[in-house]
Amino acid sequence: MNSLVQRAYNFNAGPSALPLAVLEKAKQELIDFRGTGMSVMELSHRSAAYEEVHNNAIALLKELLSIPENYEVLFLQGGGSLQFSMVPMNFMKPGEKAGYIMTGSWSEKAFSEAKLFGDPYHVVSTKESQYRRIPQFDELQYNPTDAYIHLTSNNTIYGTQWKDFPVTGDVPLIADMSSDILSKPFDVSKFSLIYAGAQKNLGPSGVTVAIIRKDLIEKANPNIPTMLKYSTHSKNNSLYNTPPTFGIYMLGEVLSWIKELGGIHALTERNEEKAKLIYEAIDQSNGFYFGHAEVESRSLMNITFRVKDEELEKKFLAEAKKEGFVGVNGHRSVGGCRASTYNAVPYETCKAFSEFMVQFQNVNQ
Ligand SMILES: Cc1ncc(COP(=O)(O)O)c(C=O)c1O
Repeated sequence: MNSLVQRAYNFNAGPSALPLAVLEKAKQELIDFRGTGMSVMELSHRSAAYEEVHNNAIALLKELLSIPENYEVLFLQGGGSLQFSMVPMNFMKPGEKAGYIMTGSWSEKAFSEAKLFGDPYHVVSTKESQYRRIPQFDELQYNPTDAYIHLTSNNTIYGTQWKDFPVTGDVPLIADMSSDILSKPFDVSKFSLIYAGAQKNLGPSGVTVAIIRKDLIEKANPNIPTMLKYSTHSKNNSLYNTPPTFGIYMLGEVLSWIKELGGIHALTERNEEKAKLIYEAIDQSNGFYFGHAEVESRSLMNITFRVKDEELEKKFLAEAKKEGFVGVNGHRSVGGCRASTYNAVPYETCKAFSEFMVQFQNVNQ
């Protein structure tokens, strides 16, 4: 445990660490939210006090990501997983094709849902290399008539991340950014739709953010359930039904915290420094630790690695747990080790972990 604040060294993959300052503010406001005499959870979602929270969160996200005027920010529910269905339901008509860039298990899940609605295909897949890499742009072969191209910007389980994104011209580009949104700057205008569950980089679970180009909303299939249409949420400022008000409040507070830190550029610098600490412990270990991802495809958010033999790996994970490092086991589908170093994970947590890695190696090699 970190003795200063009695907080765990939290490397959970999601839900994950939240900024301490945000938690403290939420605690302070919990019982009497800004003079209303009630908690934010008890406010009507139609009240002026809540609407301010809601609109402030939208405005902050627009500001931090420099989202152009012709896009809308929506707050949805159902997580990234419901987006896997909503995307094809809205934008792939029966018989149409959509290209999926396959870079991991979450791309596979998105693809499986799309098969229920139309004729998706793999633009490219890096499965043959155990999803160790992000494809090169020249590997992306798709059709100009595709309904859209879908990619996963950060592969939470395999620890790979796109460094830049392709330009797909008239074919809408759609991204699942669940595990790296707001971790580094990117050009929103390359995308028609971006979605992300909040529980890694933006706030608590229960809120899903969608950033959608307005003209795409108009092109959606009208014959689908009301709650699953992006247009329903867009027409109603994400207040068609009761939104997850506390989650949206927390998301707004996380965004304010990012703004105070100096915005996305300051955050990127911090994220790079944090990830470097752990990647260095891997790279300087002479093979005691080895990373899963190819170096050029490495993620700044999820650092995946193995220890040189299985028995030592078990010992490493057990000792890490004993030392207070939480969430260091790899995803149950792949095993190994993973440190998720999302935006709110402090530098000190990563430093303590890299020191632990070096020390464990010194004692056990
Ligand atoms: C990249 C990615 N997409 C989608 C999901 C699924 O998100 P949810 O649990 O919000 O449905 C996850 C969950 O970890 C993820 O990492």
